Amino acid sequence: MEKKFKRTLVTCALPYANGPVHIGHLAGVYVPADIYVRYLRMKGEDVLYVCGSDEHGVPITIQARKQGCSPQDIVDKYHVMIDESFKGLGINFDIYGRTSSGTHLENASAFFRKLYDDGKFVRRESEQYYDPEAGTFLADRYIVGTCPKCGAEGAYGDQCEKCGASLSPEELVNPASRLSGAAPVKRKTTHWYLPLQDYEKWLREWILEGHKEWRSNVYGQVKSWLDGGLQPRAVTRDLDWGVPVPVEGAEGKVLYVWFDAPIGYISNTMELLPDSWEKWWKSDDTRLVHFIGKDNIVFHCIVFPAMLKAYGGYVLPENVPANEFLNLEGEKISTSRGWAVWAHEYLRDFPGKQDVLRYVLTANAPETKDNDFSWKDFQTRNNSELVAVFGNFVNRAVVLTHKYFEGRVPARGELLPIDREALDQIPGLKASLERNIETFKFREALRDAMQIARVGNKHLSDTEPWKVAKDDMARCSTILNVSLQICADLAVAFEPFTPFAAARLRTMLDSPLDWSLLGCGDILPAGHAIREAELLFAKIEDEAIQAQIDRLARIREKLKEEAAAGTGVEPGKEECTFEEFGRMDIRTAVVLEAERVPKTDKLLKLTIDTGLDRRTIVSGIAEYYSPEDMVGRHICVLANLKPRVIRGIESKGMILMARQSDGRMRFITPENGQEAAEPLMPGSTIG
Ligand code: 2FM
Ligand code: ZN
Repeated sequence: MEKKFKRTLVTCALPYANGPVHIGHLAGVYVPADIYVRYLRMKGEDVLYVCGSDEHGVPITIQARKQGCSPQDIVDKYHVMIDESFKGLGINFDIYGRTSSGTHLENASAFFRKLYDDGKFVRRESEQYYDPEAGTFLADRYIVGTCPKCGAEGAYGDQCEKCGASLSPEELVNPASRLSGAAPVKRKTTHWYLPLQDYEKWLREWILEGHKEWRSNVYGQVKSWLDGGLQPRAVTRDLDWGVPVPVEGAEGKVLYVWFDAPIGYISNTMELLPDSWEKWWKSDDTRLVHFIGKDNIVFHCIVFPAMLKAYGGYVLPENVPANEFLNLEGEKISTSRGWAVWAHEYLRDFPGKQDVLRYVLTANAPETKDNDFSWKDFQTRNNSELVAVFGNFVNRAVVLTHKYFEGRVPARGELLPIDREALDQIPGLKASLERNIETFKFREALRDAMQIARVGNKHLSDTEPWKVAKDDMARCSTILNVSLQICADLAVAFEPFTPFAAARLRTMLDSPLDWSLLGCGDILPAGHAIREAELLFAKIEDEAIQAQIDRLARIREKLKEEAAAGTGVEPGKEECTFEEFGRMDIRTAVVLEAERVPKTDKLLKLTIDTGLDRRTIVSGIAEYYSPEDMVGRHICVLANLKPRVIRGIESKGMILMARQSDGRMRFITPENGQEAAEPLMPGSTIG
């Protein structure tokens, strides 16, 4: 039997206050959570909706270094920015707290202390990476290196962003400190560990046996962690930013950010409800649901539950609907690379279009696999779904009601089969929508809601009341009554998804927000006055979309340049045709004579045998090669380059050389592969 809960506590992953939130965060965590909360509230359930900024951890301190300010400056700035973005998008938490608050410092510290006093930790001395130049231990993201799993450069000490592997600093190949670039050395240090292996059996029973209904990505990840065998996990770090470890002998150490952050959910509840927070966290009849992204699964399904279990008395999550990732125009979203659509910029560039973003992110929600956001798709979904179906239907129904019935809901006469068919579909769609939201299938739920609009739109187009009005006002009246009832259904059904438009629609119709009325077919009584039509959605023009595409193109260009500068590789050139390439006569040659060009530092005059002829080439290589180095050397030349006179000498052709990342020029030598170190014969053509 399904368990009955008295209340639902919804938490959303606390975003790191080291940057603004982007569409990946929104699609993965906050929009689905908001849909869920709005839905439950509409149904009259008791819901608490908690979030806040995650203000500790290495990402914050790294950002502070980058911007040349203190970690506190960073979190103060982004906390406000993130909070405003959520509000701007209609995501209104009951509390948006912060883990630098006094309540949290006290609570996280007390939480640790109780586990410490109860003997739930093991203390261990171990060798950890230390930066000898910066004079500090290097926690997690302070170390970068090559990923041992996928070979990507720049993997962090806790995770590879390329392949998503969860790592420990010791696993990195060629580790380097992000502080000084120095190769880290090992030093002894002491930390406290939560022996996760002690909770393995319990976790198996609780999740693998007891929660088979969890999403397969979540269940699968938990299973693979458990099958791999759990290890003790360090819950403290050598860092100077965080919650100080509240035990003697732990000076200079703070709680690991992943220990303190989830406790933040509890602290934020305490801050909001100092007298009644326990009702939410310590009663069996609370349904706790954590909305998170897939990179947070292990912490919310294994580490935090083990912490709560060790503490005792806390409720455990009933579900953890983690989403996969959203990509942007086919590429992974990245805060550090700036490849993102930021919530605050979206709100600035598309004022009044919060619903469009919510809609598109839900329609493309990465629920079962990674999904993509593209600006073209965004435009199409707005113009051909929100505007052409939902908005158009409502607009036609309301305008016609004003035209023929002075803005009052016309009476309903006898329903024809075409009306019944439309109205009869709605209870089924409502049931499906409910089932989908309650099982965290928000894409499907949105499809159900949109189907109600499609049903209304089709009914109106098929019945053509504007034509019927010419000679059958009674029939026109019935048709529009049906249309308006469906509009009122939409004002309820869309509340979780597009709350701004739904509220405007309810104002337009002066209709109630009451889930139980959805699908009853009779929300608006005959004679009920409605307001003038107002457009719910407006078309998005190509220029607005192009501006966004251009912005991304500029970022792409910058990233390419940065990547090239970082690796010493020049950015790629424009493509050339095969014909253009074919025009170049590239061949091998041998140097017969070489001498310096008088009064120059850089130039050598070479006599070469191209197989075609003997000729002179002047080349700027004297910095790197002496004349003696050159004689007898096999080289490649572009033989048909237009001759040029350099210092009075006619130079016919150009030697092919490669510039290395250190700026040094080296010959491209015509050796015939590795198996034969013999150079190719002079005159061999290349292409
Ligand atoms: O991944 C993140 O962005 C983390 N800041 C999420 C923390 S969730 C919770 F545990 F606080
Ligand atoms: Zn990797």
